[in-house]
Amino acid sequence: MRIDVVTIFPEYLEPLNVSLLGKARARGLLDVRLHDLRSWTHDRHHTVDDTPYGGGPGMVMKPEPWGEALDALLAGDRPEADPVVVVPTPSGRPFTQELAVELAGAPWLVFTPARYEGIDRRVIEEYGARLDVREVSIGDYVLAGGEAPVLVMVEAVARLLPGVLGNAESHRDDSFAPGAMAALLEGPVYTKPPEWRGRAVPEVLVSGHHGRIARWRRDEALRRTTLNRPELIEGCEPEAFDKHDRET
Ligand code: ADE
Repeated sequence: MRIDVVTIFPEYLEPLNVSLLGKARARGLLDVRLHDLRSWTHDRHHTVDDTPYGGGPGMVMKPEPWGEALDALLAGDRPEADPVVVVPTPSGRPFTQELAVELAGAPWLVFTPARYEGIDRRVIEEYGARLDVREVSIGDYVLAGGEAPVLVMVEAVARLLPGVLGNAESHRDDSFAPGAMAALLEGPVYTKPPEWRGRAVPEVLVSGHHGRIARWRRDEALRRTTLNRPELIEGCEPEAFDKHDRET
């Protein structure tokens, strides 16, 4: 998968070189390219923002550098298929596991993290008219810019790419993963030693009884979901639990 990020803080995206993502890049599964938006400015101060029309606080990102940047990416050394353009903004649609799965199916993603009050609307309209442009929010809070949301989204997407996680099964039981336990949070996990500070690992997990273990995990997932995210229980299909029990 090819990922381009246009930002005024390319160094903010350095964590993309670390850990899982760094390894995926080193192994050629992920081709991430960072671009400094200011390289598409032409004034001495490399200006990327200006005051908002209509007044109000803060600054708005000027359309010209974004237009030049996106045109350059579209005209340059690029995948054959057009990109999905992801615009991080607190005013966007919620980023969900479902959207992560959808984006993981695209060969090319372009992220346009903004600073200040956002990007001049005409940029979204201009490219929305010819490309798949998604305005996406990672949660109901306002960050200082879209770079941290890009890190969040790229990590969520990249770990779904074939070959990126060591074990292809590792995301099968993720919280929010599509499937039998969809909409349930993942339950607690344990490792050795069997007893730590007087606290034993639940007996069922060392029983070797796969059916009982699966049922216990399901019950714990339900318990945790009821406690932390009761609204998710409403979306649960009881038959999905029965199917899960039959298959494990
Ligand atoms: N930029 C600032 N806050 C954001 C959020 N919650 N999601 C996506 N982009 C943002």
